[in-house]
Amino acid sequence: MDRVVFDASAIQKAVNAIGVRISADYRGKNPLLVGILRGAYMFLSDLSRALTIPHTVDFMAVSSYGSGTSTSGIVRIESDLRINVEGRHVVIVEDVVDTGLTLSQLKKTLEARHPLSVKFCVLLDKPTRRKVPLVPDYTGLTAPDAFLVGYGLDYLEYFRGIPYIFSIKPELVQSEPASR
Ligand code: PRP
Repeated sequence: MDRVVFDASAIQKAVNAIGVRISADYRGKNPLLVGILRGAYMFLSDLSRALTIPHTVDFMAVSSYGSGTSTSGIVRIESDLRINVEGRHVVIVEDVVDTGLTLSQLKKTLEARHPLSVKFCVLLDKPTRRKVPLVPDYTGLTAPDAFLVGYGLDYLEYFRGIPYIFSIKPELVQSEPASR
């Protein structure tokens, strides 16, 4: 570990603040929250509990292919939604937006299915890493350009269950298909 970047209370405060905003913006709209597996599972479960309005939840699993430390923008759907998004207000829930390639592809994919709206909700935004212009509609925390782990984010699939977010020293990071 390098250092704790966001402790558990900072994360919960950010999640609750997004919950208040979404509850106000989507009152009477029964939004469909779409969690992108795997990283978003913990954020989505806390966000769902922070909402005070009726909503439904579904998941997609995607993989991005790229070399070394960044995603390529080619997003393959490994597991699709079970709920039909047609005529629904969709909120895509992600743990982190980095290059923006995954979310911009996902938006195109979901918009082709005729939802009423598609918005982005991300816990962590790394604006300095962006390769395509993308501003999340709801952002929890602005993150530094470091390899971050915990609260759903993994290092080689480990540490997702840690309740805070910490960075790993760059010299210790081994290459994996996609980084954050
Ligand atoms: C992370 C994150 C996003 C993507 C963001 O997923 O959950 O899906 O990378 O990167 P981008 O903005 O550069 O496209 P990852 O591939 O690490 O998979 P995981 O959710 O299973 O951990």
